[in-house]
Amino acid sequence: MDYKINSHKEKKETIFFGETSYYIGKEIGSGCCGNVYNCDDSDGNNYAIKIMHPHYNLNEELVLEWKNNLENLTLIDNKYLVKYEKAFEFENAFHLMMKKYPRTLGNMLDKKVINLQKILKPIARSLLRGVDYLHNVGIIHYNIHADNVLVDITNSDSNDKKAVKLKFLLSDYADNLLLKQDSIYKQVTYNGVLPPEYINPEKFGQLSDRTDIYLLGILLLEIYYGKRLLFSDEDVLSGKPKNYALHLPAPYSFALAKALGRHVAFRTKDAKTLWHDLNLDSRNSLIDL
Ligand SMILES: Nc1ncnc2c1ncn2[C@@H]1O[C@H](COP(=O)(O)OP(=O)(O)OP(=O)(O)O)[C@@H](O)[C@H]1O
Ligand SMILES: [Mg+2]
Repeated sequence: MDYKINSHKEKKETIFFGETSYYIGKEIGSGCCGNVYNCDDSDGNNYAIKIMHPHYNLNEELVLEWKNNLENLTLIDNKYLVKYEKAFEFENAFHLMMKKYPRTLGNMLDKKVINLQKILKPIARSLLRGVDYLHNVGIIHYNIHADNVLVDITNSDSNDKKAVKLKFLLSDYADNLLLKQDSIYKQVTYNGVLPPEYINPEKFGQLSDRTDIYLLGILLLEIYYGKRLLFSDEDVLSGKPKNYALHLPAPYSFALAKALGRHVAFRTKDAKTLWHDLNLDSRNSLIDL
């Protein structure tokens, strides 16, 4: 695997939690809410660890809420979601341990090594299944974008080294739960797109699970075009993403234009419906998500 660490920053810190010690080394990357590092534990496991410092003030009630949330997070086990192997609070910061993945969907859009448009449907299905699972357990992601989709690459044929299998998994579904959505959106603008209901709730409705559908619409649009698409707040408010979608062939035009509806009330209602819409022109239209 050609896993690369981009940064030269190194934390070089050992923390002790429970029976285990964790050596936190090179930084893999950073985002709106924290940093991700390479981590080796004293049991010989290697992880990516995400460390996040909450912005809100601490009280006893919140610490209890954190503890419950962190325990519940490690119970989430779905093959379309990155698993949190361990999750704990230490010195007022959340520490989330995950498998280290060789790529993000963002890397793939930037490097253009494969034609993502050709595999849009299988990618969409993985992401929609992940989102469907989250919504069914009451979690809204609120921060779906190409860098929050991790890609696992495995060899699919022992006789052919070049034959690879790609698996797409949604990550960072814990961030909003732990940090509260407001702190995320305030800082997330560098990732591109804010949903219309965040920019103008009076006009477009409230944040809800349909916000994830809008963000998925943007991501699927990026996969179709094979590049990142940066939409400003003005673009979002004027409906530019939906207009982009309308230029696509069927069934993407209808499916993505509906997912990118500005008014929450008129937007695709859930992940299953978006999957159905993406299959409207095929014999598989009744295929289950
Ligand atoms: N489990 C992982 N394995 C390998 N690399 C990872 C893993 N998790 C995150 N990364 C890398 O670390 C980078 C930083 O992650 P982080 O979640 O802090 O920011 P982000 O995903 O870019 O943006 P956001 O803060 O909106 O999630 C990611 O862009 C990704 O390249
Ligand atoms: Mg992330």
